Amino acid sequence: MTAVPDVPAARTRTAVVTGASSGIGAATARRLAADGYRVVLAARRKDRIEALAAELPDAEAYQLDVTDRAAVDAFAAHLGERHESVDVLVNNAGGALGADPVATGDPADWRTMYEVNVLGVLNVTQALLPALTASGDGTVVVVSSTAGHGTYEGGGGYVAAKHGAHVIAETLRLELCGEPVRVIEIAPGMVRTDEFATTRFRGDAAKAAKVYEGVAEPLTADDVADTVGWAVTRPAHVNIDLLVVRPRAQAANHKVHRTA
Ligand SMILES: NC(=O)c1ccc[n+]([C@@H]2O[C@H](COP(=O)([O-])OP(=O)(O)OC[C@H]3O[C@@H](n4cnc5c(N)ncnc54)[C@H](OP(=O)(O)O)[C@@H]3O)[C@@H](O)[C@H]2O)c1
Repeated sequence: MTAVPDVPAARTRTAVVTGASSGIGAATARRLAADGYRVVLAARRKDRIEALAAELPDAEAYQLDVTDRAAVDAFAAHLGERHESVDVLVNNAGGALGADPVATGDPADWRTMYEVNVLGVLNVTQALLPALTASGDGTVVVVSSTAGHGTYEGGGGYVAAKHGAHVIAETLRLELCGEPVRVIEIAPGMVRTDEFATTRFRGDAAKAAKVYEGVAEPLTADDVADTVGWAVTRPAHVNIDLLVVRPRAQAANHKVHRTA
């Protein structure tokens, strides 16, 4: 096997995945564990991350609300005490709430989406950046969305928040130029996960099912985890700035092929 240049091979590298209790985050935790990382799974639902951590070879579950800055700082301190290094941060926690037009959208929903998709990324990234830099080869991944790159009717609050996540990634990459930290943005299109659409429509399963209706093959959580795993395991000097990934049936946010 060819040795990967630049990457220190001897120590076990630690990867933190936020929102690892379901969907893309859980699949990413599995993928990075398979790639040999010691994975720290962070999310609010402790039972779920504990169950997944127990399945993985070298993993830890840590209950965390990424919008709670004091809790995030305590998490960073915990990592400093328990882990030799922090090498990878996957900012995946996030989601959508509602699909109302701008004219009638609930500001409370917009605030919630901004808190998790923007300030959540900011909180965890700021708190772990010293450790990522100290690792000598850190990687920050932001799981944004194609909603961070274009809009659609009814997307307003989520689109605004994901544009914010995109801008964090772009700005941070400029600011860290010269530091040993890569900043990677993964922007998925339509991904069929168990909870994303159900959460968006507050448990209305019929509305959630409509999102994927007639779409032969939306992306799966594993498809996205595969792109995260690939981008993170490139040699240290290779920065995948932005990776947009959609199902073949989705040519743009609003251009989706559906069978009758
Ligand atoms: N599914 C899609 O079509 C799609 C497309 C593009 C981008 N994305 C993005 O990909 C990411 C994962 O989405 P998904 O489809 O896997 O949805 P999901 O299954 O609903 O996962 C969302 C995850 O975020 C966690 N989370 C939410 N609020 C949190 C908070 N305050 N603190 C900590 N964790 C929190 C949830 O865990 P707890 O509830 O246990 O905290 C859950 O693990 C999100 O950022 C989403 O916006 C999804």
